[in-house]
Amino acid sequence: MKREDIERIAALIGDLKCKTQKEVEEARVRLLGKKGEITALFDEFRTVDKAQKAEFGKALNELKQKAASKIEELKGAIVDTGGSDAPKMDLSMPGDPLELGSRHPVSIVRQEIVDIFHKFGYDVAEGPEIEDDYHVFEALNFPPNHPARDMQDTFFVSAGHLNPILLRTHTSSVQVRTMEKMDVPIRVICPGRVFRNEAISARAHCIFHQVEGLYIDENVTFADLKQAILLFAREIFGPDTQIRMRPSYFPFTEPSAEVDVSCNICHGKGCNICKGTGWLEILGCGMVDPNVLEASGIDSKRYSGFAFGMGLERIAMLKWRVNDLRHYFENDMRFLREFSTAPEV
Ligand code: PHE
Repeated sequence: MKREDIERIAALIGDLKCKTQKEVEEARVRLLGKKGEITALFDEFRTVDKAQKAEFGKALNELKQKAASKIEELKGAIVDTGGSDAPKMDLSMPGDPLELGSRHPVSIVRQEIVDIFHKFGYDVAEGPEIEDDYHVFEALNFPPNHPARDMQDTFFVSAGHLNPILLRTHTSSVQVRTMEKMDVPIRVICPGRVFRNEAISARAHCIFHQVEGLYIDENVTFADLKQAILLFAREIFGPDTQIRMRPSYFPFTEPSAEVDVSCNICHGKGCNICKGTGWLEILGCGMVDPNVLEASGIDSKRYSGFAFGMGLERIAMLKWRVNDLRHYFENDMRFLREFSTAPEV
């Protein structure tokens, strides 16, 4: 082994210049690869005299170190993707823009309804989606096996005992929990997800959203209910909106009514959305049945109240003239983008 060989390679390393990562790799192979020049010197080192081993060993190790750090340095300094004809990176180019999401139409409508009732002095109450039979049915005046339970096809989580666990079919269960917890007067709205075992179609889904409301105080009358619904309908569908009430039945309210608003598309003349009637159904409501008040420990001789409930998808469909409920669940970006600047009706 000659000292000049080591010096020659050291000088070569010092002068080493590379333009591409490919050239760096070639230099590494030439110096440190299996058949590289430095590797060859290490092989030769075995035949060096014992007396010179310490000196050459040190020099060789330093040489190897120098080569390795030079290769690393060159690698870090070159910005390309390896091949000489690879496209050069333009660091001044703008990055990929991040697309901003927008709120889901059902969330927009929910917030709007919450804001309207907030102005009327209502608080928001929430409760569990997985409920027991007591809060969804029994406390709301549906006795066990009462045929009224057929109105709502229920998903049971565990049946077969006295108080089955189920997915709530309406957010009236939150009203029951509120009456149990809060003192009268009560003024709450309960937005939330509900579940019914229904076949999915343009007009029905097994998961949807409701907002229900409850108002209990002394001397609350049907006239208060009517006024609250009228003000709400005008806030959400526009100041010219008319309402009409049709007698209906719910186990938890007496008397009960269904509410229609004047069709905001044909303005009462009759079109295919309102099926020629000029009216669109938007919610169910009524005076809270005294049995319901008593079940939750409220004195029905002293207090009275009203309740109402509506489906958010339905309100959103009417507001934005969406003709198929399934659009709300499919997350098609073309549909969702339409609401990034939701038009006012
Ligand atoms: N809970 C009823 C439903 O889900 C709606 C409703 C609420 C009706 C309050 C009357 C009073 O269909």
